[in-house]
Amino acid sequence: MNVLGIETSCDETGAAVVREDGTVVSDVVATQIAEHAPYGGVVPELASRAHLRAVLPVTERALAALPRGLDDIDAVAVTNGPGLVGALLVGVQVAKAIAWSRGLPLVGVNHLVGHLFAVYLRRGEGAPEPPPLPFIALLVSGGHTALYEVRSHSDIVLLGQTRDDAAGEAFDKVAKLLGLGYPGGPVVDRLAAKGDPRAVELPRPMASLRNLDFSFSGLKTALAHHVKRAGVPDSEQAMADLCASFQRVVVDVLVKKSLAACRASGVAHLVLTGGVAANRGLRARAREAAEPLGVQVYVPPIASCTDNAAMIAYAGALRLAAGERDPVDLPVFSRVAPKDAYPSSKLPRSRHY
Ligand code: KG4
Ligand code: ZN
Repeated sequence: MNVLGIETSCDETGAAVVREDGTVVSDVVATQIAEHAPYGGVVPELASRAHLRAVLPVTERALAALPRGLDDIDAVAVTNGPGLVGALLVGVQVAKAIAWSRGLPLVGVNHLVGHLFAVYLRRGEGAPEPPPLPFIALLVSGGHTALYEVRSHSDIVLLGQTRDDAAGEAFDKVAKLLGLGYPGGPVVDRLAAKGDPRAVELPRPMASLRNLDFSFSGLKTALAHHVKRAGVPDSEQAMADLCASFQRVVVDVLVKKSLAACRASGVAHLVLTGGVAANRGLRARAREAAEPLGVQVYVPPIASCTDNAAMIAYAGALRLAAGERDPVDLPVFSRVAPKDAYPSSKLPRSRHY
């Protein structure tokens, strides 16, 4: 079975073809970073327009990997939330048009479920063994920071989440403050590798392991105060030291709480996913801290961590395999999945959704 996946929830237009076992046949992503960079963050209206321009060429490129193109597609999966409503509508309308005109099954996919199952995507030879279920997932992206216990595609328990900024948002805001450009994560990561993480003392936000929630806005404020007092670092080394100090605090809290979640749930498999899982400091620290506890850490390749449509196609394949289908009037949602509109993918079963 070939599933066409379409993703337009934020600032990447993605289309991909994935088989039901997770084999990625094609995965095309058109990023809008250059459009939003001058504003230091995603501008929703610009995002919608850029998706409109990109969605058909990107979908055609993804389909070109199949001998008979659209004739070889068996089902269509599309992100229908959470995300920017105007952006989501672009992908959802295209998916509906393809599904309806071809008589193909349509499934809406929760973007977060896509991230959680991205670790099962098979991209070529030598892909590492994916984790067994259940696993603990740390989902860290520009829009989300949360810990889940993943038992199946429709049984996902939210264990903790950020009370304010997402981890990626904290990286982006700090980079903006330091004049490092957008998106901030990759550049902070690169500079941090050359800096001394003990150079600047910063508060450890919500370090208590009594709960598994996060908070990053206090750290961002502390860093802003530091910059007000000491000025923006004027040498590359001082900038690297400040980035390393910031990154260390974020990484420490993420890793400590992830391992606390493993301990509390008795689950020894930890998946890192979302754009911030590309962070080298986070990957290294998680592996180092997990080993003595007997916890195995799984990190998908970067193409699977950041926004892509292959993860949407695969999560869609899981819904299809469970016999789930959505009607052609499938709605989009910005934050909370409407109960009646998304009955078979109750994500996350928790206090917040
Ligand atoms: O998952 P993603 O591509 O999009 C969202 O769903 O948000 O994540 C993008 C976020 C941005 O905030 C970006 O700064 C962050 O991931 N990011 C990183 C790194 N690469 C991307 N953060 C830290 N270190 C990185 N290497
Ligand atoms: Zn995402």
